Amino acid sequence: MLNVLVLHGPNLNLLGLREPGIYGATTLAEINQQLKEDGKTLQVEVTTLQSNHEGELVDAIHQAVDRYQGIVINAGAYTHTSVALRDAIAAVSIPTVEVHLSNIYRREPFRHHSYLAPVVVGQISGFGPESYRLGLKALVSHLQPKANNP
Ligand code: DQA
Repeated sequence: MLNVLVLHGPNLNLLGLREPGIYGATTLAEINQQLKEDGKTLQVEVTTLQSNHEGELVDAIHQAVDRYQGIVINAGAYTHTSVALRDAIAAVSIPTVEVHLSNIYRREPFRHHSYLAPVVVGQISGFGPESYRLGLKALVSHLQPKANNP
């Protein structure tokens, strides 16, 4: 069975309360619950982790080696600032899908650049909590192309 790590970056613990006009009313706990259910359907074990600390996210990526076959990450604001997260993803060579609730390209110019984009398999942005579900599905299809695209 594949093991997938879903990483949430800074401020995503406040989902539901935080700028609901942009990020919606769904809480992080609800998103995680849905992903775990999707994992059952896709036959993958989903583990979730949220941190507001860049170094903890870097550590989590390092510790994913030999434990997880794929990563889904919403790095929040670190998407636009963190060379360290990008280097961690590049270092471990674990296939990673980048997701965003909002469409980062429709927002302020400083959100248009992602340091992660060049080192991930692909990016899904703009579908609210559905971005995570699509990201998980895309990751599993990438890891098991035949099983999911008969
Ligand atoms: C976000 C977009 C980022 O620009 C922002 O800093 C976030 C959330 C999203 O999911 O839409 O914290 O990653």
